[in-house]
Amino acid sequence: MADSNKTATLKIDGKELELPMHSPTAGPDVIDIGKLYAQGDVFTFDPGFTSTASCASTITFIDGEKGELLHRGYPIDQLAEKSHFLEVCYLLLYGELPTADQLEDFESRVTNHTMLHEQMTYFYRGFRRDAHPMAIMVGVVGAMSAFYHDSTDISDPWQREVASIRLIAKMPTIAAWAYKYHIGQPFVYPRNDLDYASNFLRMCFSVPAEEYEVNPILSRAMDRIFTLHADHEQNASTSTVRLASSSGANPFACIAAGIACLWGPAHGGANQACLEMLREIGTPDRIPEYIEKAKDKNDPFRLMGFGHRVYKNFDPRAKVMKQSADEVLDLLGVENNPTLQTAKELERIALEDPYFKDKKLYPNVDFYSGIILDAMGFPTSMFTPIFALARTVGWISQWKEQLSDPAHKIGRPRQLYTGATFRDYVDVENR
Ligand code: CMC
Repeated sequence: MADSNKTATLKIDGKELELPMHSPTAGPDVIDIGKLYAQGDVFTFDPGFTSTASCASTITFIDGEKGELLHRGYPIDQLAEKSHFLEVCYLLLYGELPTADQLEDFESRVTNHTMLHEQMTYFYRGFRRDAHPMAIMVGVVGAMSAFYHDSTDISDPWQREVASIRLIAKMPTIAAWAYKYHIGQPFVYPRNDLDYASNFLRMCFSVPAEEYEVNPILSRAMDRIFTLHADHEQNASTSTVRLASSSGANPFACIAAGIACLWGPAHGGANQACLEMLREIGTPDRIPEYIEKAKDKNDPFRLMGFGHRVYKNFDPRAKVMKQSADEVLDLLGVENNPTLQTAKELERIALEDPYFKDKKLYPNVDFYSGIILDAMGFPTSMFTPIFALARTVGWISQWKEQLSDPAHKIGRPRQLYTGATFRDYVDVENR
């Protein structure tokens, strides 16, 4: 973080305070209000953190106006086109693209950690079969701290590294097993001769009764979905991971917190909500009714898969995802699927509608990912677990960055209190 030679002046009741500023390598300048309370006896108020930088970071940069997403400086479309998920994991974790040897070593470290402690199968069996796979994910990832004691000491860089590799390696197994358990099929163990995405697909779709051949187009599409979801700077779940970690909690507990936050329909849960909405709409002729609902201030309904806090232009991930959707749907020959037709028509109508245009509400990544996952055969309940699997590397990279920052401290926001002021307790008979 470069200190800027600019300062900001704040006038409070005639008293002037000079606030230091920081110049980022990209993005708007940042006013440092760290000493504001001590010097001015005031707090700032920014619910939803719309104007607040919660940390300094070197990992991911988004320019919402341009529709640009960079990981360590590299644009997401180039990474999606030319790279693959595990290479992007390396980039996010260590800051640079790996050499061939570094990549081989990293891939082999990840591959050698794909199995889960066998005792964890009993942990799964404690859940109801109809549990949502995200509920199982929150529980199982949190429970990793009870199974991998040798990688919970956050003060030890080696243990931090082992925890990172374990989480990235085991997440596909955890998510696939949540699915298998949910549908009542036996767990399929990982196969280390397969690449990351193929291994996940096989653990989800293979059964002991017959061979399962992973289609390379589907595996490439799966890998792209992982790559496009890998990190997204200080979003709600990443901020949750950082906040949980700021108290010194162990990595598995922090990632479980991130998964819980991701689950909500305004965040990662939007991919499930979006496909369910498309199914509810059913056919293109019903779209106008839903567009009107979305525009109605008195109706809480929102078009799922549209809008983004940061992107006020097309979500760059959605562009690549749309391309992938076309490839997968071509392969599977489901162009005439009514959900897909509804999606295409909804996109067309919303992009032309002044309400969505004026508010800069474009389709986001979740609009297309659900269509691909549905075509691949995943039930909607698996969409958010797949997002969680992919985002784990982002959470872990941000967690590692936070812990290695000597200035990091416990996150403890203040509040604008609007409740009752001091009053004496009244005995029950006198109320
Ligand atoms: N449908 C209809 N109206 C919308 C929508 C939508 N999807 N999104 C925003 N608006 C309207 C909203 O009513 C508000 O109108 P007004 O200014 O008249 O009050 C305006 O647009 C700004 O909305 P906001 O809620 O202040 O914006 P936000 O930045 O707080 O919310 C969002 C961002 C993503 C939560 C929101 O756009 C949304 O709920 N979208 C649907 C859910 C979704 O697709 N989420 C996935 C996001 S991408 C993946 C991820 O990050 O996990």
